[in-house]
Amino acid sequence: MAIVYHEAARTFHLYNGQISYIIEVMPNGMLKNVYYGKRIHDREDYSYQGNDGFLMHGVCSVDGGLALQHQRQEYPAPGIGDFRESAFLLRQENGSHISRFVYSYHTIYEGKRPLEHLPATYVEEKREATSIDIVLYDNVTDTELILTYTIYEDLAVITRSARFLQKGEEKVVLEKALSACVDFPDKDFEMVHLSGAWGRERQIKIRKLEEGTQSIDSIRGVSGAEHNPFVALKRLSTTEFTGEVYGFSFVYSGNFLAKVEVTPHEITRVILGINPYNFAWPLKKGDSFQTPEVVMVYSEEGLNGMSRIFHKLYASRLVRGEWRDRERPILINNWEATYFDFDEEKILSIAEKAKEAGIELFVLDDGWYGERNIDDRSLGDWYPNPKKLPHGVSGLSEKVEALGLKFGIWIEPEMTNKNSDLYRAHPDWIISTPDRYESMCRTQHILDYSRPEVVDYIFGLLDKLITESKISYVKWDMNRYMSEAYSRTATADKQGMVMHKHILGVYSLYERLIRKHPKILFESCASGGARFDPGMLFYAPQTWCSDNTDAAERLKIQYGTSLVYPLRSMGAHVSASPNHQVNRVTSIETRANVAFFGAFGYELDLNKLSEEELKTVKEQIAFYKKNRRLFQFGEFLRIRSPFEGNVTSWIVTGPEKKEAIAAYYQVLNVANGPWIKVKLAGLDPDLFYRVSYEDKVYEMYGTEIMQIGIPVDRKEFTKKGDFASLLFLITAKES
Ligand code: DGJ
Repeated sequence: MAIVYHEAARTFHLYNGQISYIIEVMPNGMLKNVYYGKRIHDREDYSYQGNDGFLMHGVCSVDGGLALQHQRQEYPAPGIGDFRESAFLLRQENGSHISRFVYSYHTIYEGKRPLEHLPATYVEEKREATSIDIVLYDNVTDTELILTYTIYEDLAVITRSARFLQKGEEKVVLEKALSACVDFPDKDFEMVHLSGAWGRERQIKIRKLEEGTQSIDSIRGVSGAEHNPFVALKRLSTTEFTGEVYGFSFVYSGNFLAKVEVTPHEITRVILGINPYNFAWPLKKGDSFQTPEVVMVYSEEGLNGMSRIFHKLYASRLVRGEWRDRERPILINNWEATYFDFDEEKILSIAEKAKEAGIELFVLDDGWYGERNIDDRSLGDWYPNPKKLPHGVSGLSEKVEALGLKFGIWIEPEMTNKNSDLYRAHPDWIISTPDRYESMCRTQHILDYSRPEVVDYIFGLLDKLITESKISYVKWDMNRYMSEAYSRTATADKQGMVMHKHILGVYSLYERLIRKHPKILFESCASGGARFDPGMLFYAPQTWCSDNTDAAERLKIQYGTSLVYPLRSMGAHVSASPNHQVNRVTSIETRANVAFFGAFGYELDLNKLSEEELKTVKEQIAFYKKNRRLFQFGEFLRIRSPFEGNVTSWIVTGPEKKEAIAAYYQVLNVANGPWIKVKLAGLDPDLFYRVSYEDKVYEMYGTEIMQIGIPVDRKEFTKKGDFASLLFLITAKES
C-alpha cells in the first residue's frame, strides 16, 4: 500500500519508490504538509519537526498558539489568521466568509476514481495507484470537504482534487474552490511557466522567486494562449538534465489561477485551481462541488525528467480511446492551401496529389458549411454549402475515401455568428449580458453551453454530419475568448456558475460524440494553440500546436509545449514558403525536420510545389512512416534550447535506446563559426551506434556521442544558409 496512516501521530505518508508526501493532522484538526519531495523513510511520527513560527507582533494565532500564517497547509482556510492566498471561500447566509474545516475521517483505497463530468488521469488496473479521501468538516455550516489524493505506483506523480458537500440546511455559496496547495519550506526556486499569445504560444519563462506573489491565470473562459495551466518550481541549479523540479499541471480547459507566493519567512506557497473570477457556486443541502484535478510531478533529473513523467502519464493515462496507442495518420489540411476559396474540384485535386505523395488523411478545414466564404458568418449552420460541395460532405468524403485517403472535417461547435441561421432562430443562445455591448472577436459569439438544450442541438447536427459521411477525424476549433459572461436563462444567483458550467457543457459534448463515434480521431484547436491543456487531451488525443507554422518559430513553440505535453499530442505541419504568418523562407527539409517531432502533416497545396520539392515530400513521408513509431512513441529529450541561443537540438529514443533520431537546427547562419560537435543525450553509453546524416556515416559509442559529439563540417553546413537543420539517424549495431 503506497499510503499509510500512522494513527498515534495522525500522519499520512503517501509514497512510492521515488517520492514521499507527508500530511499531518495538527492538534487543532487542520491539515499540515510536513514534506513533499524525494522519497524519505517512513516512520511513525514526524512531529519532532514541530510547528513553524512563533507568536510575536503581527501574528494571529488559533487554538492557543498556532501561528497559521507560518504553517505549511494542505488546503488553507480564509480569514483565520493565514493571510496568504486561501484555497477556498465559502459564504454563509449571514455573509461571513469564515470557515474552519477539521479532520473527520479518511478512506484509503486502491486505484483511482473518475471525477464526475470532469477530465482526469485514470488507472487501468487498481494496482497502478492508491488513493485517499481525507474528509474534513466545518460544524458551523455543516459542510464536508473531501480532499482526494492519488499516488501512482510507478511514477513520481500525485494527483489532487477537492470536493465540497453541503450536508446542512444552511445555503452556502462557494466563491472560490481551488484544487491544490503545496507549501514548501524555502524559496530557493525559480518559477517556470509557459506564456505567449496567438502565433507564439507556450514560450518558456523562468524567474527567480522573491517575497511576494507571482501568478499566471486565465479569465478568458478557456485556458488561453497567454498562459498555459502549468507551473513548475525548479532549484536554481536545475538544468534540463539534473536537479530538482516540481511540476503542477491543471487538468482543466477554462479559467484558472496558478499562484506562487513567498512569505518574508521564505515559505513558498503554490496554489492552483479554477480562477475565482466570476465564480460563485451555491450549495444547498445535498449539493456538492467537485474541483478539477491538479497533477503534481516531482523529478530530480531536471526539466527533462519532469517532462518524461508528464509525457508518460498524459499519453497513457489521460488520453483515452483507441487512438491512445495507435500511430497517428499523416494528414494534409487545406486551410493554408485554400482558406475559404475552394470547391469540390479543388479539394479533390489536392487530395489526389496527397495520395500520390503517400499522405493518409485529408482534412477539410473551415468554409464548407452555410454561406461561409468569409469569417463573419454561418458558424452553427453545420450543413454543407451546395455551391462548394454539390455532393455534400458525404459525397466529398466518399470521393476522398475512393482515392485511398481517410477523410476528416473541421468544426467549431461552441460558436455562432449573428449572420447565421442558428442565431436568427435562437438569438438568446449566445453568452452576453442584457443591455450591454456584445464584444466581438472574429465577428463571432460563444454559444451558451451552460444550457443543456444548446448542447443537445449542436450534438444533433454534428452527430448527423458524422453519421452521414465517412469521417475518420474531426478538428474541433474554438476561436474566441469569453467576454460579457452571462447566461440569458440563469437566475441572478446562478450567474457565477456560468463560466464553469460552460466548460462542463463543452466536455459533455465531447464525451457524447466520442462515445457515439469512438473510432474518430479528434484534434482540438483554438486559434492555433489557445487551448492546449490536459483537459482537452482527455477528449482529443491531439492539439493543433499553433497557427504559426514557420519552422524557426515552431522550434520555440514545440520546445515549450514539450515541457508538459507528449510529441504525439502536438499537431505539426509543413506549410508553404514564404510562410504565411511571418513571410519567412525556409527549406522544405527544415520545415519537415521540425514538424517530424509532432503529429506530422502538411498544410499547403502540393500542386504548387516544384517536381523537386514534391519528390522531397514523398521521401519525407516515406521516412516518417518508417520512423513514425519512434517519433510518436519514443522518449523525447530536449538538449539545446531555442530560448537560449541560435541553436536548438533534441532527440527521440526508442525502446532500450537501440534507435534514436536527433535533430540540430541553427536559426541564423554564422560566418566562420565555431566547429560543430553535436553532443546528444539519452543514449546508452555502452552501446555502439551507427550514426548517419546526409551522406555521412560514423560508428560511435554512446559515450562518444554524448561526451565528444558528432562531428559536422562547418564549411558544408554553412552552405545551407539560414534556418539550417540536420537529422541524425542513430541505430545500435549488433555487438
Ligand atoms: C483557426 C485554426 O487554428 C486554423 O488552423 C484554422 O482552422 C482556422 N481557425 C479556420 O477558421
